[in-house]
Amino acid sequence: MSDRPVALITGASSGIGETFARQLAARGYDLLLVARRADRLEQIARTLPVDVRTLAADLVTEQGLALVESAIRDSPRLELLVNNAGFGTLGYFWKADVGGQDHMHRLHVLATVRLTHAALGPMVDRNRGAVINVSSVAAFSTNPGNASYCSTKAWMNNFTEGLAIELRAARSAVRVQALCPGFTLTEFHDTLGVDRGGIPAWLWMKPADIVAASLRGLDQGRIIVVPGLAYKAVVAFLTHLPPYLRRHLKRPFRDKRT
Ligand SMILES: NC(=O)c1ccc[n+]([C@@H]2O[C@H](COP(=O)([O-])OP(=O)(O)OC[C@H]3O[C@@H](n4cnc5c(N)ncnc54)[C@H](OP(=O)(O)O)[C@@H]3O)[C@@H](O)[C@H]2O)c1
Repeated sequence: MSDRPVALITGASSGIGETFARQLAARGYDLLLVARRADRLEQIARTLPVDVRTLAADLVTEQGLALVESAIRDSPRLELLVNNAGFGTLGYFWKADVGGQDHMHRLHVLATVRLTHAALGPMVDRNRGAVINVSSVAAFSTNPGNASYCSTKAWMNNFTEGLAIELRAARSAVRVQALCPGFTLTEFHDTLGVDRGGIPAWLWMKPADIVAASLRGLDQGRIIVVPGLAYKAVVAFLTHLPPYLRRHLKRPFRDKRT
């Protein structure tokens, strides 16, 4: 049996989650990979040079959450949890299918609460470990057609900062981070059905750069990580904008359904 640290990554079947798996394997972590597409997880696992366990779980269901919570409880070497699984929707909130809005809150908020709770207690007891919550620059603004996405990602940032404050109060060495990417070249926009052509090429980042910034930020103990100079500038602008002006910002790509 290996004595390497273990990282559990949700949404590891593509994009940012798959990239976390590759970069964490290179850093010497064994892996627990979670997503709904078991075949994709197994394909990825075969290409990694460390011990990998795959868990097919739908994290919007109680059954899926319970399965992953139990895997966390059975992993005494768990040193990193990456709450990454997520998706976007299109359209005004009241026109959008309520099922999609419900699932988004379950995945971005409730799954993050449940898995973080399962992981954090044992990490605090051992006084080592970390949780990365994959949020978005969308956490810093609200725009039409994005009410649930922006608000669930804003919740993620707030939750992460709250945990950081509690961990510091408890003098714990356990770290937490909210990772806030901008537009990233993954399957996210294909699943959403948005044409990438509507977004300027220079705004797109590679998942490898997002994950490298996150892991560097973790080494430095950064709580909010915004990869890329352009997005750091966007976030600095948004956080200094009075709320009444922030509310008038338009969504930065054409959304035919809103
Ligand atoms: N791409 C961007 O521009 C961007 C920007 C900012 C933030 N983000 C955030 O980055 C995170 C990762 O997204 P990505 O860009 O890498 O997109 P992606 O390639 O579409 O990956 C999303 C991952 O989430 C998993 N997932 C979705 N629903 C799930 C469910 N119900 N249960 C378990 N797993 C589920 C998917 O796997 P299965 O389909 O196999 O379940 C997939 O592995 C998300 O939280 C997203 O909000 C993305």
